[in-house]
Amino acid sequence: MTKRRDSVLITGASTGIGRATALRLDAEGYSVFAGVRKEEDRRALSDEASGVLTPLLLDVTDSDAIAGAVARVGEETGGRLAGMVNNAGLSLNGPLELLPVSEIRRLFEVNVVGLLAVTQAFIPLLRSTQGRLINVSSGHGLLAIPDKSVYAASKFAVQAISDSLRLELRPFGVSVSNLVVGKVDTAVLGKILEERERLAKAADPAVLRLYSPLFEFFDREVRNLPGIPPEEVAKVVAKALTTQRPKAQYLVGPGARKMLNLSRLPRGLRDGLMYKALYGARNK
Ligand SMILES: NC(=O)c1ccc[n+]([C@@H]2O[C@H](COP(=O)([O-])OP(=O)(O)OC[C@H]3O[C@@H](n4cnc5c(N)ncnc54)[C@H](OP(=O)(O)O)[C@@H]3O)[C@@H](O)[C@H]2O)c1
Repeated sequence: MTKRRDSVLITGASTGIGRATALRLDAEGYSVFAGVRKEEDRRALSDEASGVLTPLLLDVTDSDAIAGAVARVGEETGGRLAGMVNNAGLSLNGPLELLPVSEIRRLFEVNVVGLLAVTQAFIPLLRSTQGRLINVSSGHGLLAIPDKSVYAASKFAVQAISDSLRLELRPFGVSVSNLVVGKVDTAVLGKILEERERLAKAADPAVLRLYSPLFEFFDREVRNLPGIPPEEVAKVVAKALTTQRPKAQYLVGPGARKMLNLSRLPRGLRDGLMYKALYGARNK
């Protein structure tokens, strides 16, 4: 069955989950609009995809770029978008005391405000097809743990946006699915390690020492926890776009189910387990 008539937009398609998803949907026959920020990423994606995929220069924090993307997609699809995948996202991990506020603002600007702005702009196109909106969240959108105050807050916000829009858009036949993603082997893992090194270098050594158990724990997690290839996530996105009844929430990748289960525990028990995992038997 060809889906060539169905158009789908995905943000953050230069690398990782976004790129794998754009290429998979392209191979499945969708007419894909793939958001990237750099000219070289636009070219690279065009080289690998079919001639039908359209890379769009789309920084989700740039309102002119969003308006330009809506105009272009609207024009090329006759105002009809069957699916939209909000995937673009940044990571920022580390103890709050070590995180520059400018970087916290930037992360919210991309992960939350950018997602809202792009969604708002494309709702009319999705409404015209009773289309599907898919938001890429994280296990950290279900369970907020130390070291992740900022990233988890942004992904909890994504969960909230999905929950809210699911009912807000239901009268128009637009479905909203939330993708809770566990660990995926993408460029983000290298970015996290670089970021941790940078934060550690910039920190006051005495303050850094206070957080060394946290730093060591999460460094090990990033390096040693097995992840899945981004193509596995792309498969789930493809399913969410075609299945007759899209689910409100999809869990994909290692850790996603575990984090859901942990999030359901009473807070005292959950905190105790987490504290023990981080600091050994020491309790304070
Ligand atoms: N990998 C994981 O383990 C994991 C786990 C849970 C959730 N996730 C989520 O999955 C999504 C994709 O992550 P990934 O692992 O594939 O990471 P990635 O390879 O680092 O990809 C992130 C994408 O977001 C784009 N982006 C960043 N800032 C942007 C902006 N202002 N406007 C538009 N695009 C922007 C990046 O573009 P540039 O190349 O131009 O920077 C890139 O295409 C994110 O929302 C992430 O939070 C990932």
